[in-house]
Amino acid sequence: MARILSVFLALFLAFAAVAAPVETRQLGNLQCNIDRFKIVTGLVETGSALKKIDTTNPDTATAVAAAQTGLTTVGDAIKDIALALVTGKAAPTDARTQVSQGLNDTRSALEGITDATVTASVASAQTLVQGLIDDGNGVIADCK
Ligand SMILES: *[C@@H]1O[C@H](CO)[C@@H](O)[C@H](O)[C@H]1NC(C)=O
Repeated sequence: MARILSVFLALFLAFAAVAAPVETRQLGNLQCNIDRFKIVTGLVETGSALKKIDTTNPDTATAVAAAQTGLTTVGDAIKDIALALVTGKAAPTDARTQVSQGLNDTRSALEGITDATVTASVASAQTLVQGLIDDGNGVIADCK
């Protein structure tokens, strides 16, 4: 997961560097690119926050696995969007839905954890997921 995310990061940096001369509408303005960058870094942070949740309790383990699957969905969709951007193609229309769906799945999975011994680490992950949702809304608002 970390390796794949560093690929996204490289892609984002690459397209940020070539942003000016290429088609500005799809590549977006500065705020749009900051929002995108925050999503990529937020994904990495959320992934490591999930790893910090103690999964001794099998129900917690199942929920954390579901949360990780949701994040993977988000990462795959963002990779599709980033590849479209760097290759000058239209971003796939269902990729944004996939990002939203993946974030919702991650949020629901974390909400389902009832193990009181992991409340603090779950709360940290939830804060990061909410941050990703906010950044996603920022992308929709700023990347026109
Ligand atoms: C994710 O949840 C938000 C808010 O609850 C909702 O507006 C959005 O449609 C959901 N996304 C998907 C893909 O279901």
